[in-house]
Amino acid sequence: MLKGKHIILGVTGSIAAYKAAVLCRLFVSAGAEVRVVMTPLAKQFVTPLTMATLAKHPVLVEFFNPENGEWNSHVSLGEWADCMVIAPATANTLAKMACGVADNLLLTTYLSAKCHVAVAPAMDLDMYAHAATQRNLAQLRRDGVYVIEPEQGELASGLVGKGRMAEPAHIVKEVDAFLGSETLAGRRFVVTAGATIEAIDPVRYISNHSTGKMGYAVAAELAARGASVTLVSGRTALAVPEGVDRVDVVSAEEMYNAAVEAFAEADGAVMCAAVADYTPVTVADEKIKKGDADMSIPLRRTKDIAAELGRVKGGRLLVGFALETDSGAANAREKLERKNLDFIVLNSLRDAGAGFGCDTNVVSLIDAVSCVELPLMSKREVAARIVDRMEKLLN
Ligand code: C5P
Repeated sequence: MLKGKHIILGVTGSIAAYKAAVLCRLFVSAGAEVRVVMTPLAKQFVTPLTMATLAKHPVLVEFFNPENGEWNSHVSLGEWADCMVIAPATANTLAKMACGVADNLLLTTYLSAKCHVAVAPAMDLDMYAHAATQRNLAQLRRDGVYVIEPEQGELASGLVGKGRMAEPAHIVKEVDAFLGSETLAGRRFVVTAGATIEAIDPVRYISNHSTGKMGYAVAAELAARGASVTLVSGRTALAVPEGVDRVDVVSAEEMYNAAVEAFAEADGAVMCAAVADYTPVTVADEKIKKGDADMSIPLRRTKDIAAELGRVKGGRLLVGFALETDSGAANAREKLERKNLDFIVLNSLRDAGAGFGCDTNVVSLIDAVSCVELPLMSKREVAARIVDRMEKLLN
């Protein structure tokens, strides 16, 4: 998959920079075109001559050449690349990336890059475990950066722990996997996400705690694999993932209409939205005045979008979500059947790190015959597992 791919290899000032030479060589021998960008400090650890010879191109370090004023354009470099891999990535560079600091060519290139970005952290175990580094890595994951986890082992300091940069062969494998991942090119999917809002009057409404993060992660993952994605989105504060076409809706009724329309052209749908089950029978034109007496609001059932898509799906793929506070697996299976889903993702609300607003989730993938319990992972990783399963079913 790396053949003909354009890779920017970013090298920062870590002892592990010597492994960047091997990494560069592996990328080139896999058929990739490599441009190396180094931070000024990285030059102390591995020479530009070594890197340039292996990459078969001059190494870029400074914004411009002081001799002749030639400008190193981070913008065109960012546009040229299919992928930017920063290996090794020091705690310092990760922190700057997380904050958007742009004080060297590697960082401006990162900020300009429209391609996949992966980082392979390398540092001492305490630096890696430090709350600040973990916070920065979490931020970078949220920004869509793929983190190639460091390994456990002996470190340059002589200490033993997690912080050793992943081995070059492993980095190549991971980059190959996510670059070769346009496996859904030509496919079209609908994803519903976020909370719907059911108006009571011009001021009040019924809604729920969904933030849309899980659905947005699924949409991003499908798009990253080359699929066309229509994201039918209720209220959320999230930005539209790259390559995704978003349709904003407010109520369950609007979501129903938008999802049914988009599904007509689709190969499948993933129903992540937290759709209100009830909506007020009437919406008051004016703000309802309070009185001394209690009041009740008559509610009627909304339409079940997943069930409707399940009814018309034919051979197409339909994935649902279930959020249960009791008898999770049994209820999820009942929904699987009733809504004619191919599989259902059961969310846990009980586990730490799962549920509304978290960047992580704990889920089980349930179909008619199996139940796969996944460990705590980022919502993007959960999305990847869901899409892996969808791909298997499609093929
Ligand atoms: O029945 P329940 O709401 O628990 O089912 C959850 C699944 O059904 C989720 O995939 C959700 O997005 C979908 N759903 C829907 N339309 C509704 C209610 C739920 O698409 N009105």
